[in-house]
Amino acid sequence: MAETKNILSEEKEGILYLTVNRESKLNALNIDTLEEIRNIFNEVVDNKEIKGVIITGSGEKSFIAGADISEIAELNELNARKFAENGQEVFSLIENCHKPVIAVVNGFALGGGCELAMACHMRVAVANAKFGQPEVNLGIIPGYGGTQRLTYLIGRGKANELMMTGDMIGAEEAKRLGLVNHILATKEEAIGQAEDILKKIMTKAPLAIGMIVDCVNSVYNREENGYQTEANSFARCVKSGDYKEGTSAFLEKRKPIFKGE
Ligand code: COA
Repeated sequence: MAETKNILSEEKEGILYLTVNRESKLNALNIDTLEEIRNIFNEVVDNKEIKGVIITGSGEKSFIAGADISEIAELNELNARKFAENGQEVFSLIENCHKPVIAVVNGFALGGGCELAMACHMRVAVANAKFGQPEVNLGIIPGYGGTQRLTYLIGRGKANELMMTGDMIGAEEAKRLGLVNHILATKEEAIGQAEDILKKIMTKAPLAIGMIVDCVNSVYNREENGYQTEANSFARCVKSGDYKEGTSAFLEKRKPIFKGE
């Protein structure tokens, strides 16, 4: 894995565990950390050992309390657009990753933290999780994809309310709105839940999982016909050895062994 200063990474039994590790700053995402995430996800794509990813924040208090405000405070009109596009690009890498990525949200997921969690394929929250897009308090708006992903995830009315008021919501409300898949009492239990989900996915055909990522993401891409993407992806699956294995195993009444080919 790429050399990192602000992210702890460990691979165990096919799962890559990433921990944003700037606890004294509530794991705020500075540019360096964002670049580390970019490098890691570029590697995840080609690394055959890694079958799924869990992202969390260091400590108990915070997942990620936003982009680093000391850097935001230095932006100007010329570099602000690049700043936003850079974050959007990195989060798209997560969203488009063909291996499942789960955010384990411990504590504050604010601003860029909420945006990063939303770019993951699923979110498992610890009971103390707090979500919000408080950028209006700083005179700005979400810039790492939040205006889009929050709206897709929870609908326009609620997304407008959260972004315009800057209010935080707790884990229960986030689950009610569809922002969170599961809530667990502790971080350990939340990681356990994410591991259970990933281990189940790891028994399925990897190519099919990647195709699901593409098809689901195509819903959000206005330039793409999602039904066409689905039909093309379906055909790609049928070309694979895993398709032969899956259908044969069913007919032979045995468990399939998928190779991702
Ligand atoms: N960027 C940079 N530093 C941040 C940060 C951020 N997004 N969020 C927290 N920190 C830093 C604080 O400046 C403080 O650093 P210091 O000890 O060197 O002064 C440290 O993390 C602890 O934060 P603190 O504010 O003292 O903790 P708290 O428990 O009183 O409050 C929050 C927690 C999350 C409510 C508060 O830190 C906050 O509002 N953070 C900003 C959230 C935000 O607006 N995010 C969107 C940015 S676009």
